[in-house]
Amino acid sequence: MNPESGTMRHAHVTGWGRYVPEQVLTNADLEKMVDTNDEWIVTRTGIRERRVAAAHETTASMGAVAGLRAIRTAGLDPDDIDLILLATLTPDYWMPSTAALVKEAIGNQRAAAMDISAACSGFVYAFATAQAYVTAGLAKHVLVIGAELLTRFLDYTDRGTCILFGDGAGAVVVSGSDEPGGSLGIEMTTEPQGAYMIWLPAGGAKAPPSPETIRRGEHFIRMEGRETYRFATRTLAATAMESIRRAGLTADDIRLFIPHQANIRIIEAVAKGLDLPMDRMFVNLDKYGNTSAASVPIALAEAANEGRIAVGDAICIVAFGAGFTSGAATIRWTVDPARGIAGDAAVDPSSIHVRLPQDWDAVDPIPPALAEIMARPDPLNVPLDDVVPGEPEPAPASVS
Ligand code: UT7
Repeated sequence: MNPESGTMRHAHVTGWGRYVPEQVLTNADLEKMVDTNDEWIVTRTGIRERRVAAAHETTASMGAVAGLRAIRTAGLDPDDIDLILLATLTPDYWMPSTAALVKEAIGNQRAAAMDISAACSGFVYAFATAQAYVTAGLAKHVLVIGAELLTRFLDYTDRGTCILFGDGAGAVVVSGSDEPGGSLGIEMTTEPQGAYMIWLPAGGAKAPPSPETIRRGEHFIRMEGRETYRFATRTLAATAMESIRRAGLTADDIRLFIPHQANIRIIEAVAKGLDLPMDRMFVNLDKYGNTSAASVPIALAEAANEGRIAVGDAICIVAFGAGFTSGAATIRWTVDPARGIAGDAAVDPSSIHVRLPQDWDAVDPIPPALAEIMARPDPLNVPLDDVVPGEPEPAPASVS
């Protein structure tokens, strides 16, 4: 950390980046696993496909790629970052933090790093935290990441949850400046009456891992879909409006809303609640499903890269999730949106490595239900002798 940054009055988004794994899981794939069908999934959720992390990928590795892309978009070096905040509900380990692993993977020597846990609202909570650090003068550049690897925490016999979620990561750099703009208004709520509406029962201090917790299937995400849906439609528009009001604006002033990508019907309800047409709502859940804390930053990066945001626009990011939590930030965009495409291209995912201990072999992380679709060779993980010219062919097996 650099405690000598000096007080900066404004926190701007100066960089953004995203990463999604290559492997696609379609609704047709899910039809082979549970009693569901493409038509139900599309009409009830809007989701057509989602991404699944390969065996060598983790929340940290995806977060590092998205994070480094955001740093490149901002025109910075990794060591310019003073603080790394990583929002996730699927950390690589209980400890250390996934943010600490990302710090090493992106080659940063000097940042403080920590995880933030607020489920699907986690990225907005982390963004608000970044703004607080920057405007308090405790950090000049904060890397804010939302990264999730949800497909390893799903019950592939529960059609109410396994069709919804996917993997990926998104990130922004929040930088201090005395120029007006950037984050203008924040709102966050937490309603613990909903604590057990979306939860993952076992593995924590209340129910540590045991053969019994595994037998009961308590290491998977559980959700009361209808109650969660009700909370989302009740809360999202109100949370967004409060953040917009704090920014001194009205809903009409917002060029683009970037809502949590959970369900198209929820996003339609938000548009209706705000009396705005759907073209003011950014939607990409058809491609990625619900990626929890990663959904807003992936959507934000895609919206910028697709030219849906221009310098001077006010945008509103808004999310809800387990807790129940909700959060929104209204942001005045101040950086050329064209920078993001070059930032993405500057980082090759195969160049990012998250270090493992030398004396530990992790078990195969791929859920058995996904093993068949993951059987396709992974382009990032082919054996060296397949790609290095001149490597000797392995000796043919001798037949006796
Ligand atoms: O990031 C926050 C995370 N969570 C959310 O945002 C989830 C919010 N909730 C939702 O998006 C929706 O509640 C769901 C998509 C989860 C469910 O949609 P719904 O319209 O609320 O359906 P439902 O739970 O009321 O179920 C309607 C019917 C039921 O059958 P019966 O009882 O009417 O015979 C379900 O068993 O649909 C059935 N059903 C399915 N059918 C085919 C539930 N899941 C499926 C499925 N395929 N995957």
